[in-house]
Amino acid sequence: MLRTHTCGELRTEQSGQTVTLSGWVNRRRDHGGLIFLDLRDRYGVTQVVFNPAVSPQAHAVAIQARSEYVLQVQGEVRNRPSDMINPKLATGAIEVAAGDATILNPAKTPPFYISEETPVDETLRLKYRYLDLRHPRLQHNLILRHRIVKFIRDYLDARNFLEIETPILIKSTPEGARDYLVPARVQPGRFYALPQSPQQLKQLLMVAGLDRYFQIARCFRDEDLRADRQPEFTQLDLEMAFVEQEDVLRISEDLFTELVATVTDKRLKFAPFPRLTYAEAMERFGSDKPDLRFGMELVDLADVVAGSTFRIFQSTLAGGGRVKGIRVPACGTYSRKQLDELTGIAKQFGAQGLIWMARTDDGLRSPVAKFLAEAERDALIARLALEPGDLALIVADTADTVADVLGRLRLEMGTRLNLRPEDEIAFAWILEFPLLEWNAEEERWSAMHHPFTAPMDEDLPLMATDPGRVRAKAYDVVANGWEIGGGSIRIHRRDVQEQMFRLLNISPEQARSQFGHMLEAFEFGAPPHGGIAPGIDRLVMLLAGEHNIREVIAFPKTAAGTDLMTNAPSEVSEQQLKELHLQITKHSSEAAG
Ligand code: AMO
Repeated sequence: MLRTHTCGELRTEQSGQTVTLSGWVNRRRDHGGLIFLDLRDRYGVTQVVFNPAVSPQAHAVAIQARSEYVLQVQGEVRNRPSDMINPKLATGAIEVAAGDATILNPAKTPPFYISEETPVDETLRLKYRYLDLRHPRLQHNLILRHRIVKFIRDYLDARNFLEIETPILIKSTPEGARDYLVPARVQPGRFYALPQSPQQLKQLLMVAGLDRYFQIARCFRDEDLRADRQPEFTQLDLEMAFVEQEDVLRISEDLFTELVATVTDKRLKFAPFPRLTYAEAMERFGSDKPDLRFGMELVDLADVVAGSTFRIFQSTLAGGGRVKGIRVPACGTYSRKQLDELTGIAKQFGAQGLIWMARTDDGLRSPVAKFLAEAERDALIARLALEPGDLALIVADTADTVADVLGRLRLEMGTRLNLRPEDEIAFAWILEFPLLEWNAEEERWSAMHHPFTAPMDEDLPLMATDPGRVRAKAYDVVANGWEIGGGSIRIHRRDVQEQMFRLLNISPEQARSQFGHMLEAFEFGAPPHGGIAPGIDRLVMLLAGEHNIREVIAFPKTAAGTDLMTNAPSEVSEQQLKELHLQITKHSSEAAG
């Protein structure tokens, strides 16, 4: 037996027993005669003492052992002297007195030490991911991920959902992002696509009468990467037949609520989850994924400043723009430098500038104060509910820029003021998304969620007259400023689906060649259906208190889409290309140069 116990298991109850442990050398301390090695595995760390008087053989092994050597140790468990007990360690009340030791495998000096908390360059971490994953924090994240997925599977199984796998090699269809393509060797010139999500397949499973489907589904999207985006990621993909929006919201909300209570020690801020329309979320928080752990809402100031002589207010409002502000409590003493820094952030997010006002004991301190009449200053103070010592941040710009910039400043100030506690999760629903968004570049409408999303019944007449105002039966679940999941009730009638394609400027021929299977399926008795797809990576990131999904994915890719450990993507041989009937015309490095 290579081990009788794990390195996280022994307690004073085992004192006196002879045990065998195997693990990695976490830390080594040489005290002249005695050598202390901390042996580590997934379960914890146990201190082993090597005394030449007890076992010269084991002591000789300990002299050679270095960090990350794999060791097997046999010895007696004994209680530590009371002044040596380490209350921070689960095994801190005992140690193992080595009687016999074997080096199972030596290790090169690692590029970074697992036992140290010092930050390590992420490139190095990703190159040596198998070492990085020895860190307890990352192991904890992967264990949490396992528990979350296990909980979800059990939860849905108990509610009649079937886990069904769908293919990874599918037909390329436009869904928003760019597809990853796979050349078909036996059909020259043809390609499969990797699924951006199993959207169409899960709808077809509803047509097939499977009624309740889910899948822990891998999805692939060739899009710009961010902290919450990877080129391949995992969704809890879910679809239900004979449901309305309320049914999907209910089951998802119950799932999240029980999940958080069962597998985490986080607090849920809201039960039930608040529901905001898209328009309301944008108006109040400048974001369709608001962090509701704190207030600091965006306040409309247009009517208050409309009469002021400040040119920027005038021209913005005249041009159809907005003037809005947020109240930042107790930041009225910000220095010039700090205010310049906030202005920098505003500009970085697209604003022309940032207007600040500090409420002092006797009025307003602000570069624009002189352009405001006293009544206007009072009205501003009242509208923003400014107390002495508060700071107001104001942006005058197009509606989109105002929302985006103030929304981001709100998050920034919320972080600075510690209003975003890690142990609190504020889920919310965002409803009534617009069905379509205008693509100015291509001068056409595109689907805001995806082309299979149903319009709201009361907005159906607007489809022909004012498509931009049609709201969708689409919903997002958000938490702490992240979009966790999105879904919708689907179109299940061919005529409505065709109308949608027409709006999206997809010709009947294109519709037939790209989505013919969907249109045809809708003619064979498609039930009303809908679903949702929470991102597993984002959910785990949220519940692990991480700020980047790379921290909850075993082998993630860099922002450039590279796997630094294996160096994928890589060049392939001429022979492989030939078999696939492919020819490289220009290397990307040349193309970039
Ligand atoms: P959507 O495109 O909104 O909907 O995606 C659903 C959820 O998937 C996660 N997600 C991602 N996670 C990591 N990296 C990415 N690149 C990435 N892209 C998306 C997010 C997001 O909320 N088929 C529809 C769902 C439906 O209508 O049922 C869909 O995929 O958490």
